[in-house]
Amino acid sequence: MDRTVRTVEDVLALLDGLFASESEGADGRLATGDGKDFWDRFYTDRTRPVPFFVAKPDENLAAYLDQGLIAPGRALDLGCGAGRNALYLAARGFEVDAVDLSPVAVAWAEDRAREAGVGIRFRWGDAFALPAAELTGPYDLVVDSGCFHHLPPHRRVSYLALLDRVLARGGHLALTSFAAGEGGMGSQRSDADLYRERDLEGGLAYTPDSLRSIFSDLIEVELRRMRAMPPESALFGVTFLWTALFRAG
Ligand SMILES: C[S@@+](CC[C@H](N)C(=O)[O-])C[C@H]1O[C@@H](n2cnc3c(N)ncnc32)[C@H](O)[C@@H]1O
Repeated sequence: MDRTVRTVEDVLALLDGLFASESEGADGRLATGDGKDFWDRFYTDRTRPVPFFVAKPDENLAAYLDQGLIAPGRALDLGCGAGRNALYLAARGFEVDAVDLSPVAVAWAEDRAREAGVGIRFRWGDAFALPAAELTGPYDLVVDSGCFHHLPPHRRVSYLALLDRVLARGGHLALTSFAAGEGGMGSQRSDADLYRERDLEGGLAYTPDSLRSIFSDLIEVELRRMRAMPPESALFGVTFLWTALFRAG
C-alpha cells in the first residue's frame, strides 16, 4: 500500500503516471506528456520526412519580428526540438536559451547552432521539473512551437507557473498548437475523457476559446491559423496549427 500524495506536485506526478507507459526518464523520474524515450526515438533518424525537421522558423515568428510586434531581447525556446526557431531568433539578435526533453533533439540543435555559428544556451530535461536556476528568466519572449499540445491537461498548471516565473513584464508568449475543428489536428476528446482513456492520442487539439481561457492572465495580441508556406519558402507554415501571440501585462 502506498500513500504518496502530500503536495500539489505529488498530485501532478500521480496524474503523469496515468500516461506514463513510455515516459520514464534516465534518472527514473517521470517526464510530463509524451516521454523522453518516445522523443529520443523520434529524433534519432534526422533524415525522416517530418515537416518540422526542416531548419526553417515558423512563419508567424518571422512575421511578429517583421511587424515590430516583438523585438530582440532574451528568449526561451520551450520544447525546442532540433532548434529551428531558436536558431532563427539567435540570428535575429536574441540571446536564446533553449530546452527540450530529448537529449537527442538537443544534440541535433547544438550541431545546427555550431554550423550556423550562433551561440545558444541549450538545456535538456523536463522544462517543468528543471531547477529554477537552470531557467532563470526573465525572458522577453517565450516561444513554444508544438510542446504545449503534447502536455497532459494537469501540466497546464505547471506550464502557467513556469510562465509566471520566467516571463518578463511586457514579455510575449509565442505559441503554436494543434487546432481543433476543420483542417485541424490532434485529439478532440475532453480533458476528462483523456484521463478515462489514459491516452493523449498524439497531442491535444485546442479551440481559440480554450487557448484564450487557459492564457487569460495574458493579453491576446494575435491568434490565427498558421499560414501555409510552399517548400521553396525560407519559412515553415502548415495550416493545422493555431499561432498565438500573448503579452504579459
Ligand atoms: C512537436 S515537437 C516540436 C519541436 C520544435 N519546437 C519544433 O517546432 O521544431 C515537441 C517538442 O516538445 C518537447 N517536449 C515535450 N514535453 C516536454 C517537456 N516536458 N519539457 C521540455 N520539452 C518537452 C519534445 O521533446 C519535442 O521536441
